[in-house]
Amino acid sequence: MNIILIGFMGSGKSSIAKEIASRLKLQLFEMDEMVFQKTETTTMDEVFAKGGEALLRETEIAISKEYASLDNHVISTGGGVVLNKSILDNLRGDKGKIFYLNASFLTISIRLAENTSRPLFKNLKEAESLYHMRKPLYLKYADHVVEVDQKSIEEVTQEIIEEVYGR
Ligand code: S3P
Repeated sequence: MNIILIGFMGSGKSSIAKEIASRLKLQLFEMDEMVFQKTETTTMDEVFAKGGEALLRETEIAISKEYASLDNHVISTGGGVVLNKSILDNLRGDKGKIFYLNASFLTISIRLAENTSRPLFKNLKEAESLYHMRKPLYLKYADHVVEVDQKSIEEVTQEIIEEVYGR
């Protein structure tokens, strides 16, 4: 069974996925890293320079098809995977669990204030409207919603593990 983390940029998907994988001794699968490998890039700015957002989305779809049989992984997705329904359908398989890391926009904007690595988080106003547009999609695809504001990585990890295994 895969544990799949979704949520907006800066909600903590990568850090929490890493912690879950290490606690449960599962393999980690980082979608953004796979995108870099497949597009022969090293940053999202490069991906966008090469083929715009369309290249990112196409690549995410291709990865989800290629790895549809992945099992026993913790998958940290890119914030935009909810834009294409097939991506989560492919990654979830028949028994994956999708967790939405729900962070407020305030928390996210504080966390990403110094971070310039995200092409879709360069302008605060635009990022905020993207946040509000995306939110219903995260809620729609989530099996579980985890509130992450003011919680440590360990606390969020513990909640997810308890939800998955009941311990
Ligand atoms: C994006 C989120 C990013 C990355 C790209 C686009 C988005 O991933 O895939 O910059 O559309 O929300 P993170 O959520 O891991 O930052």
